[in-house]
Amino acid sequence: MPGAELESPTLLTAAGLDLLGHAARRAVAYLQSVPTREVAPSETAVRDLHRFHEPLPDAPTDPRELIDLLDRIGSPATVASAGGRYFGFVNGSALPASVAATWMAAAWDQNAGLRVMSPVGAALEDVAIGWVRDLLHLPPDCGAALTTGATMANFTALAAARHALLERAAWNVENDGLFGAPPIHVVVGEEVHVSLLKALGLLGLGRTRVVRVPVDSQGRMRPVRLPKLDNRTIVCIQAGNVNTGAFDPAPEICREAQAAGAWVHVDGAFGLWAAASPSYAHLTAGFDQADSWATDAHKWPNVGYDSGLALVRDPRHLRSAMAVAAAYLHPGEAREPNHYTPEMSRRARGVELWAALRSLGRNGMAALIDRTCAHARRFAAGLRDAGHEILNDVVINQVLVSFGAPAKTRAVIEAVQREGVCWCGASEWQGHTAMRISVSSWATTAEDVEMSLAAILRAARNA
Ligand SMILES: Cc1ncc(COP(=O)(O)O)c(C=O)c1O
Repeated sequence: MPGAELESPTLLTAAGLDLLGHAARRAVAYLQSVPTREVAPSETAVRDLHRFHEPLPDAPTDPRELIDLLDRIGSPATVASAGGRYFGFVNGSALPASVAATWMAAAWDQNAGLRVMSPVGAALEDVAIGWVRDLLHLPPDCGAALTTGATMANFTALAAARHALLERAAWNVENDGLFGAPPIHVVVGEEVHVSLLKALGLLGLGRTRVVRVPVDSQGRMRPVRLPKLDNRTIVCIQAGNVNTGAFDPAPEICREAQAAGAWVHVDGAFGLWAAASPSYAHLTAGFDQADSWATDAHKWPNVGYDSGLALVRDPRHLRSAMAVAAAYLHPGEAREPNHYTPEMSRRARGVELWAALRSLGRNGMAALIDRTCAHARRFAAGLRDAGHEILNDVVINQVLVSFGAPAKTRAVIEAVQREGVCWCGASEWQGHTAMRISVSSWATTAEDVEMSLAAILRAARNA
């Protein structure tokens, strides 16, 4: 055997095995430290990051030493979003099954772009997509792509929309671009998420070249204020506003769009997952009537970063927008992952999505949604009882609270972040400065909520 004379590859040496075990032990120790450390990193830890800034050494570094360095300098400068008291943005924490599956997938080091490069990557992606369609009550044969997150999912799905609408006008946008193309109109709500506007900009549809529809006090589009729609219009609606958690009135909007032949796209970064709980599924009624959907798995389903999905009712449009042909690529009969995504080479993102969903099961996913929403309600009740104003209807896992004047609210947020028991961010909501509390982590317990509530109320008393 010709390979027999080769030196053993590093991974198979005792040092290689020791390295992987060592890294796993340090990672486990990190996770064990999360519940007792402050949620935000200390100023010293952040300052110490300067120690990474060095000229690239000429000599190789022993990988074990390098892992020690990562842990020693890097771990203290992380935000403890893996734990149960991080309520910033809309960040989930990776489920243990997701972390473990990612380790496995890292060892596999698969290029999941094509089936021939990773049969297992493609298979797990197929399975996970099927489960997501099922959990979100979306058409069983819609096309899907695994993306880095909702921004790229919005981009990917809107590329399919752009293709479909211009194909109707006998314009091939992939080949001929947008110069001279028949115009496409885009309608968004006044409270559209900035990432959707970014996706529109990347697609040449323009961040500000949109019609913005007025919204109500929760950020829901008012259907009566929709402009005239036609078959070259994309209407972008939201399942879960990033501030209030509110859902646009999908049934009315989809009905009107369908009658006009317009395309409806749903930005459902986190809210669409309400469909997975029998107690909250009613909020997503009508969203299945849309033409495309974007969502995140790294938010509510607690898959590790990064993980999102774009889904398109008619898979042909997604494929036409994304697939390329080349002599050396020999696509088979089965679905080829990179025919649906902007990237060609890509990591096997389906592995941890599959692992997270399988570890939760249908009931576990519903329980995760129910539990985080109950925690959000408890936050709202505790804050309201103490006399603070809750600015939103707490319909899912998002709470907006004002502590009075903007400066006072900002002072409370700063004090909470500094103390480190929990972490909540700031936002502006329809003229009010607010603290945003987003309960998105599987790890949050009732005790975490009580500790955090006490910390917030303490900061509010002292600010
Ligand atoms: C409604 C909505 N859309 C899109 C995004 C962007 O998601 P990502 O950061 O995963 O790209 C977010 C993030 O919070 C969001 O809440």
